[in-house]
Amino acid sequence: MSDLSRFSVSLEADLLEAFDVYVRDGEFATRSEAIRQLLRQTLARDAFEGDDRPVTATLTIVYDHHRPHLVEKLLELQHQYPGQVVASMHVHLDHDRCMEVIVLKGPGGELRHLAASLRGLKGVHMGDLALAGPIEPEHNHPHDHHPDDHGHSHNK
Ligand code: NI
Repeated sequence: MSDLSRFSVSLEADLLEAFDVYVRDGEFATRSEAIRQLLRQTLARDAFEGDDRPVTATLTIVYDHHRPHLVEKLLELQHQYPGQVVASMHVHLDHDRCMEVIVLKGPGGELRHLAASLRGLKGVHMGDLALAGPIEPEHNHPHDHHPDDHGHSHNK
């Protein structure tokens, strides 16, 4: 972790009171911890709004798998973004509905576009795109390393 710096903040009494309720209800260990998370979320959302900066996000969709051709269309669309779709998890919710959680990586604008095209298909009940955070540039190309450079071994 980087070195900690301290700064003081002036707040109106009622705002501080509301914040302390937020800290308590959110079960944050300290006010500082709550402020750190709020700052990170805000800064990450900011990065997400900019179209060019790389971020990670999850898209959760719930859909009716009986809807003709919907499953094929969902797969087709995801195959058009092989670099952005990192992984997906499929859960059979009940007789009619499936839930898919798709992990995405890439420029915020591209991810929003992909999310919109998936969410917009007929038979999709809901789609929620949630930002996980910005990707640090030095961590963008993990596969540039030689396989032997990994700090751990893969059992084959
Ligand atoms: Ni299913």
